[in-house]
Amino acid sequence: MTIVNIKKRANEIRTLLHQYNYEYYALDNPSVPDAEFDRLMQELIKIESDYPELRTEDSPTVRVGGAAVSKFEKVQHLNPMLSLSNAYSMEDLNEFDKRVRAEVGPDAEIEYVGELKIDGLAISLKYQSGVFHDGVTRGDGTEGERVFENLRTIKSIPLRLKQPIDIEVRGEVFMPKSSFEKSNVDRLANGEEPFANCRNAAAGSLRQLDPKIAAKRNLDIFIYALGENDLSYLQNHDESLQVLNELGFKTNSLTKTFSNMENLQAYIQQIHEDRPSLPYEIDGFVVKVNQLGYQQKLGMTSKAPKWAIAYKFPAEEVVSKILDIELTIGRTGQLTPTAILEPVQVAGTTVGRATLHNEDIIKAKGIKIGDYAVIRKAGDIIPEVVRPIVERRTGEEFEFVLPTECPECGSDLERLDGEVATRCINHTGCPAQVREGLIHFVSRDAMNVDGLGEKVVNQLFSNGLIHTVADLYRLRKEDLLKLDRMGAKSVDNLLQAIEVSKQNSLERLILGLGIRHIGKNGAKKLAQKFETMEQLKIATFDELITTEDMGDKTADSVYTFLHHTESLALLDELAQLGVNMKYKGPKPVVVAAGDNPFAEKIFVLTGTLHQMKRNEAKALIESRGGKVTGSVSANTDVLIAGEKAGSKLTNAQDLGVEIWSEEKFIEIIQ
Ligand code: IVH
Repeated sequence: MTIVNIKKRANEIRTLLHQYNYEYYALDNPSVPDAEFDRLMQELIKIESDYPELRTEDSPTVRVGGAAVSKFEKVQHLNPMLSLSNAYSMEDLNEFDKRVRAEVGPDAEIEYVGELKIDGLAISLKYQSGVFHDGVTRGDGTEGERVFENLRTIKSIPLRLKQPIDIEVRGEVFMPKSSFEKSNVDRLANGEEPFANCRNAAAGSLRQLDPKIAAKRNLDIFIYALGENDLSYLQNHDESLQVLNELGFKTNSLTKTFSNMENLQAYIQQIHEDRPSLPYEIDGFVVKVNQLGYQQKLGMTSKAPKWAIAYKFPAEEVVSKILDIELTIGRTGQLTPTAILEPVQVAGTTVGRATLHNEDIIKAKGIKIGDYAVIRKAGDIIPEVVRPIVERRTGEEFEFVLPTECPECGSDLERLDGEVATRCINHTGCPAQVREGLIHFVSRDAMNVDGLGEKVVNQLFSNGLIHTVADLYRLRKEDLLKLDRMGAKSVDNLLQAIEVSKQNSLERLILGLGIRHIGKNGAKKLAQKFETMEQLKIATFDELITTEDMGDKTADSVYTFLHHTESLALLDELAQLGVNMKYKGPKPVVVAAGDNPFAEKIFVLTGTLHQMKRNEAKALIESRGGKVTGSVSANTDVLIAGEKAGSKLTNAQDLGVEIWSEEKFIEIIQ
């Protein structure tokens, strides 16, 4: 065969394989036996290995997994990947329905789409001219990780769409129950820890640096939403799912549209009953307003759309025996009693411990050591003891008594008036508090030191290498190499990650210090307002309390912390060790009341912008009170059209939407 003919044959096979894939995954209706698919795939693999120059980006051979990556790149989402508000009962759903009707208007005929809430992880997929070219995890909602090479190995993700369009879609990657069980059998046979549940298994598989490993994990996906797109003719969510399916995406066939709450709720009940026999895990049911126009009208809060809600199934309850009650000491000295249980399976994992929150709750629930008790997972995640089964008592059970001294350091315990928590008063010397403080300092939202989790912090602490957070920046390679399970490579990585953390913006350090009542938001507001640690240190109480979102208690706690000799000494030490003490993020924009051309307006961005990125333009609009959506409709107020604006511009012109050039946008902003 000539090279021209070989190229032709390769293209022919690719087209056939894409078609067979489409029939199998999108239509659930294969036209050829698996063996025929495999035969063609082998033929293509052979051609591409003999003639590597004939490989293409969308070749089905990428399913076996390409070259490993060294780390995952961070990527900003075009539009944030939101989460959902929760409903825990049918009453909550009725409340949601009322809110929607009140907002949209009494005469509107609202339809709801009911979808299964798949227990996996949210993913955004991007296609350019119909070819799959990027895929990112949800991450924190604004920024995720590029796991494209791993996603390409998932057979139900089309590599080439039926139309050569640009589009972003969103869905849930999951591991089917059968693959989960098989993976765990293999892992146990290889002496590895089994996965705790399907969601962890899917997340762990997508975070493999080697796509060949991900390829073997049999992951799957359901697409549940359009992202950035030009399909502005669409009117309803169910229609968009239909279009997604026609383009080649796997959508869930159990999705249904309802014109009233009664039928929807009956369907939820039915799905709840069928849950055990589904081939994948679900953790609830998602209800979405069908009409896209109403969705726009309802809008969203900073975290979740107001046009959708997740109904969580009632938690599964099981019975186990309370063998003991142990106390753990947190970062602030708080003692949390934990029930040690006879291990029991609940909602997908084996549970051996369950939180009892505090002394009062143990008393109120009447729990004794030795009791049989009802156990469940709150929010399907945190195991808790619901109530003791008094009828099963034998007389050998006994009351739990809180000690008078800290079980970790022997110091006095105190319980302040009006508080439920009992604390160890030795805040700077109690080893448990110091250790927890260190773990908090390096955690993801604080200094975010990669590779430095709870286990390693404990190891460093118990070997006497760190006593305060400043010691982290004095760690030496030769000391670390002496520790168990610390090879040269992991030591280098660890030191490098610690070094990188010195450059963090101020809010991460503020959060890491563990000042009482200061969370992620409070730390950010302080960093934005005071900009440097020096300024923050000299802030008066009045200045602190006038910081956005800051109350009496919080301002008082920050003030006290910053006037404590020990804290000041620690901050000096950190500064000398090279830890950044300045805020590096964007300044918040103060919107002048009155004449604001952005307030409450709906914007759409299209085409290429030259003076800023899309994300930046979006942030500018949102910081001034505007909203940015993905497609033009009658509800759009302004279209900002960059260079090479396409169908969105024509659409906006047809609908009489106001159009701004990039220059005009910048002028107005300024
Ligand atoms: S819609 C703006 N639909 O649930 C709407 N989410 O708690 C965002 N999920 O991060 C999500 N199945 O990971 C939607 N049919 C479904 C879903 C679903 C699972 C997950 C998704 C999301 C989380 C929100």
